[in-house]
Amino acid sequence: MKINIYLIGMMGSGKSTIGQILADRLNMSWVDMDEAIENRGMKIPEIFEKYGELRFREIETEVAKELSEKQHYVVSTGGGVILKQENVDTMKSSGRIIYLCATEETLLRNLDAGRAHRPLIKDGSLKKKIEDLMRVRGEIYVSSADFVVETNDLSPDELADEIINLLNL
Ligand code: S3P
Repeated sequence: MKINIYLIGMMGSGKSTIGQILADRLNMSWVDMDEAIENRGMKIPEIFEKYGELRFREIETEVAKELSEKQHYVVSTGGGVILKQENVDTMKSSGRIIYLCATEETLLRNLDAGRAHRPLIKDGSLKKKIEDLMRVRGEIYVSSADFVVETNDLSPDELADEIINLLNL
């Protein structure tokens, strides 16, 4: 597969875990968009704290563009990448987009331990934060994706299989 595979979805939906398995199976390279952002020299919580979300989104857009110039990559995106149509267009024109759709229960379970390094959910009621984000993003995830995969009842390996089947690879 010359083009890239982009995994989109909420924080805690398994994009990084599944992305690595998928890349392994398909003999593709794997990159995590958040890591690519942090490789520029600053941790995500620090970017939010010092410069705010708007600046973070600008950097995210730059990194999305950079990654789209690569070929044969599985990209585990950051959960908010779909908030800009420009990013969705960038991904669409360079690959296929898979939405990993998880229920609120799954997200709550997966996110409880990883809140500290995720500025948008780091304090307050996690349930309310997830609901608020999903109210804004739910439809955007679906409309941005070439395929939607329900993640709740499947293991990461099974999910990778499903994605490989969907993409006819
Ligand atoms: C964000 C998700 C995070 C990271 C940043 C913002 C979001 O990535 O990009 O904290 O807006 O949903 P993960 O989805 O990899 O946690």
